[in-house]
Amino acid sequence: DIPQIPLANGNTIPQLGLGVFQVDNAQDVKNSIKWALAAGYRHIDTAAYYGNEQWVGEAIRESGLKREDLFVTSKIWNNVRGYDETKQEFQATLDRLGLDYLDLYLIHWPAPGYVDTWRAMEDLYKAGKIKNIGVSNFEQNQLEDLMQQTDIKPMVDQIETHPYFQQTALHAYLESQGIQHEAWSPLGGGRNNALDDPVITKIAAAHDVTPAQVILRWHIQREEVVIPKSIHEDRVKQNRDIFAFGLDEDEMQAIVQLDQGKRVGPDPQNEAWLKQSQSYDGRK
Ligand code: A2P
Repeated sequence: DIPQIPLANGNTIPQLGLGVFQVDNAQDVKNSIKWALAAGYRHIDTAAYYGNEQWVGEAIRESGLKREDLFVTSKIWNNVRGYDETKQEFQATLDRLGLDYLDLYLIHWPAPGYVDTWRAMEDLYKAGKIKNIGVSNFEQNQLEDLMQQTDIKPMVDQIETHPYFQQTALHAYLESQGIQHEAWSPLGGGRNNALDDPVITKIAAAHDVTPAQVILRWHIQREEVVIPKSIHEDRVKQNRDIFAFGLDEDEMQAIVQLDQGKRVGPDPQNEAWLKQSQSYDGRK
């Protein structure tokens, strides 16, 4: 079974989920979710920005699984800020998904106005419409700013993390705060060659697993939640099979040495980018 990780509020989150970023047509979204659920995944990570919430909802309904057996995450994009606006947009996300609650709702980026957005999320959490609330792409200064001005500490921070961008300092800070580290682009988003790194391929050969499985296993042993994306059935299944082997301390350390501090995504401290990202919604 896929392990459940405890959150600060006593709830749990499945440690492996399926990501659907950049899966932008109905067929790929529905197929990847169908394969994932058949392979035992129960956690799906989408966002308003991905423009695919409607297809995620269709795939969930077609699965016939019970709502309470699934863990569904979505995120509020940077163009929506403010208390009332956030509540309305949350309802729009529920409507697109065809759901009546979310397991996890995240502020997608620390774009200006996130305090009022968080206050709305706190109230939706208290009302039971969102089981867990969190943020994404927040760094320590942004978390501190948010926590100083609001009551409920985020339960999760979903941040870019992979062997070439390990987030060592932020990982330690999150751990000290009891905020669960969730890794986006755990494999490096396919735009980064950690999958071909000789250190990774050598460890993979030693365990008779694939480089992707080694990287995902490294995240799991760091106690992160991972949400790899794939639109290929064999890879969706492969990415689930990471709980029957383990990396030893030397192997974990060899991967630690690979860190290059090299992002594939935007820098959360780039204020010009954050501001600009508030001018579009990303939906098709
Ligand atoms: P594809 O969807 O064509 O399978 P991340 O989740 O880190 O952003 O990584 C997603 C990228 O890695 C995508 O390009 C995806 O391609 C690819 N990918 C996903 N799983 C695997 C795997 N097991 N082996 C190789 N590449 C993978």
